[in-house]
This record gives sequence, C-alpha cells and structure tokens, in this order.
Amino acid sequence: MKGIILAGGTATRLFPLTVTTSKQLLPVYDRQMIFYPLNNLIKAGIKNILIIVSPEHSGQFLNLLGSIFEKYGIYLEFKVQKVPKGLADAFVIGESFIDNNNVAMILGDNIFEDNFYEAVKNFKGGGKIFAKQVKDPKRFGMVEFDKDRKVVSIEEKPALPKSNYAVTGVYVYDNRVVDVAKSLKPSDRGEVEVTDINNWYLKQGELEVAKVEGEWLDAGTFDSLLEAGNIVKDKGLYKNFDPLIDKAIEEYNIELKRLAKKKLK
Ligand code: TTP
Repeated sequence: MKGIILAGGTATRLFPLTVTTSKQLLPVYDRQMIFYPLNNLIKAGIKNILIIVSPEHSGQFLNLLGSIFEKYGIYLEFKVQKVPKGLADAFVIGESFIDNNNVAMILGDNIFEDNFYEAVKNFKGGGKIFAKQVKDPKRFGMVEFDKDRKVVSIEEKPALPKSNYAVTGVYVYDNRVVDVAKSLKPSDRGEVEVTDINNWYLKQGELEVAKVEGEWLDAGTFDSLLEAGNIVKDKGLYKNFDPLIDKAIEEYNIELKRLAKKKLK
C-alpha cells in the first residue's frame, strides 16, 4: 500500500493566512497540520508517501519534511500540482508513484483521531471510504443508504441531503483508481471529483463504507482551524503521534537550534 497526502489547493477560505503559507503548514496546537495526515498514514503502516503540494509553497514543505524521516524507514516524495483541479487529480499526478500498488489517499487538512491500521491491513481490493455523521451535510460528499442500510449513492454537496453521513478525507483504493481518475471529466464546479471515483466503485459493487471513530475535523475555515487546535489540546490528541514523528521533530528542532547558534557567532 502506498500513501498520498493531498496538500495543495488554494485555501481561499483562510485568506489572508494562506497568502504567506500553505494551509497544511499552519499550526494545529504544537505542530504543523501536515503532521496529522502523515501520522495517520505512518500509523497505518504505510512507508512510501507522496505529498502533493502547490507550486508557491513547495519549498516550505521540502524544508520541513525533506529528510527528517529517512533514517526511520519512511520515504517521502513530493510532487507539485500546478492547478488545483480537484481531489481525484491526486491519482493522476501520483500515477508513476503508485505504480502497480494499492493506494491510501488522505487530505492534508483532515485531522482524524481514528487509526486506520486494520482497514489498510485487511484491504483486499475495490474501494474503501470512511463516513462520519455531521451537522452540516451540504458541505460534504454524502452517503445515501436504502432502507436496508445498503449504500446506493454518494452525492457531492447535495442541496437535499439524504443522510447525515459525510464521506471523510481518507480513501483506500486498488490500482484501478489510476485509470478511473484519468477517465473523469470535470464536474459542474470544474473539478475532477473523488465522489465520481467512489460512485464508479459502487457501481462495480466494490465500495465499502466504514464508520470513522472519534474526532474528525477538516481544518479549512477559521472556526474549524481554531476548534482543531482546541480539541487537539483539550483531548490530548497531540500525545497520539507515532513516536517516530515526535523523535524526528525533536531532532529537527535540535539541529535548527544548533544552526541558529552558529549563525550568531
Ligand atoms: P478544499 O478544502 O476543498 O479546497 P482548498 O484547500 O483549496 O480550500 P478553499 O475551499 O478554502 O479554497 O481541499 C481539501 C484538501 O485537498 C486540502 O488539503 C487541499 C487539497 N486539494 C489539493 O491539494 N488539490 C486540489 O485540487 C483541491 C481541490 C484540494
């Protein structure tokens, strides 16, 4: 299983914060947001991870993450998405990285308390997505169930939502996802939609929808960014990081302090 973090986009809802840096490099309590999706993939046992970034902020991502995990056997690659074409573009940009493997994609601004280790370990093929009940269903891709609780469709930002189960920002697919993503036409809002990929797998009878346990936040607005920081602190989620992430950050800080002292001399 390979991993992708989609960390580009324009983050217009966070202007002017995201004029000077990327949304995924903004702080959520004691570290940059990107460490959360990275933690989810590492904890799921994934060792090869592609981080897709926007051109303006690519250097900042490289400075922060470029080499701090290598000695722990976690290999990061970076690719630039020149234009934010939509979530499904991750699998087109990631084609050569994915090669003939399965892939787990996670959005760079999503914060999950849940652990996806079992889901990744038990993945046999098809598509697997993760849903969570929300209060504002018009903002998300929503799962529609029939009377037997069987999934019948996934609707992107529906005007009349048919359930309150939103599709969260982590997706696991088999290798066919690359061809499916390449065949998609942009939707009415001009994006290639991950919802269309999910509906493709659903049509094949190969889409599994699992429930997300614990907190799930998408930190894309001022309020949700603040709420994310508060929840992370109050519920102690910052203590849930894989120890290798904490170690890598600590070593990075020591190195930066050493360099800062050298400059002063
Ligand atoms: P969104 O929050 O839907 O988009 P955005 O980040 O550009 O923000 P805004 O709506 O405020 O303008 O994106 C969800 C995640 O996916 C986020 O981590 C950014 C990333 N993304 C890309 O990397 N490329 C894309 O083409 C899109 C649409 C999103």
